[in-house]
Amino acid sequence: MNFCCCPLLVKYIINSKKMEPAKVTKKQFAKLGFDKEETTLNTLLANYHVYYQKLRNYHWNVKGADFFDLHEKFEALYTVATVNIDDIAERIRVFGHTPLSTMQAYLDNSEITETGTDLSPEEMVSEVMSDIETIDSFLVETLDTAAEVGDVATVSLLNKMIKDIEKEHWMLSAFSGR
Ligand SMILES: [Fe+2]
Repeated sequence: MNFCCCPLLVKYIINSKKMEPAKVTKKQFAKLGFDKEETTLNTLLANYHVYYQKLRNYHWNVKGADFFDLHEKFEALYTVATVNIDDIAERIRVFGHTPLSTMQAYLDNSEITETGTDLSPEEMVSEVMSDIETIDSFLVETLDTAAEVGDVATVSLLNKMIKDIEKEHWMLSAFSGR
């Protein structure tokens, strides 16, 4: 008695019997972590920390008619920054390296510099826009380095940060009319 009447199925069964069993080869785990990438991630981390603290400064000390808008905007920006800082530092740990972790190390390795507390709202927005440009440059540079060494996870991580921070730059630019 013939249970199988479908010609295609019969052909598949015959062909599959001829097939050699696939050889299972174990994928080798390639340890990530390249000195260059560690350095660029740590420089990015240092700049992000100084930027973060400046946002807290401005959140607390902004004055004037735009207080409510800017107080909230600076808080929204440092809330995103704190998540990104943690992701960058933990990415460095994934590589088995040590993230910069002291305020002194951040100040020593950051291109972004601190300001006082008595800036005008316009000056604060201008500082934040300039700092975003610096962060964006470091993000792009670090992404390029990660891409060079095939670190797709860091590329993916930084891609989103770049997209978000460039949008923030545009909105601050629209706010300040620059
Ligand atoms: Fe607050």
